[in-house]
Amino acid sequence: MLEIRKPRSGAEWEELSEMRYDLLHKYLGFPKQRIVKGPSKISLLAFSGKKIVGTGTLIVEGKLGHIRYVAVERKSRHRKIGSRLVKRLEQVAKKKKLKMVYVNARKHAKKFFKELDFETKGDYFKHKKIGTLHIRMEKIL
Ligand SMILES: CC(C)(COP(=O)(O)OP(=O)(O)OC[C@H]1O[C@@H](n2cnc3c(N)ncnc32)[C@H](O)[C@@H]1OP(=O)(O)O)[C@@H](O)C(=O)NCCC(=O)NCCS
Repeated sequence: MLEIRKPRSGAEWEELSEMRYDLLHKYLGFPKQRIVKGPSKISLLAFSGKKIVGTGTLIVEGKLGHIRYVAVERKSRHRKIGSRLVKRLEQVAKKKKLKMVYVNARKHAKKFFKELDFETKGDYFKHKKIGTLHIRMEKIL
């Protein structure tokens, strides 16, 4: 059984922070970032039983939702956990009456978001901070 919900304790926030760093930043040599919380940032965790297996965040930018930091632990991939996290973030965006969600997808994640009906906008670009190739993808809600 997969449960997707917001972190409820400092320990869960710490796990979210570790997972983000480990799966998204560490392998690129990018330093660990402090988690910035706020009403416009909705972070979710995916639990398989008691174990945290994935995370993702929606950042509200006016009428747009920016999906960021979607990551699933290596051993739990290809089981639709990532898809379910993104769909839940879309639901959150819809409830907030946002018109569209977008993601700056890493090159290898383009197929993943395409299958979730995100459309590419423009060409690949080098991410200013991270330095790898990304592509903007959008989905009207
Ligand atoms: C990208 C990531 C979050 C996907 O998580 P996941 O739980 O494995 O995702 P899913 O099981 O939902 O989908 C995985 C696979 O199914 C495919 N898929 C998703 N929905 C599908 C559908 N409806 N029909 C067919 N295939 C589908 C995806 O394209 C992907 O295929 P691939 O692995 O052969 O390329 C995960 O690989 C990850 O954490 N990667 C590292 C972090 C990262 O790069 N995050 C994205 C930053 S932009």
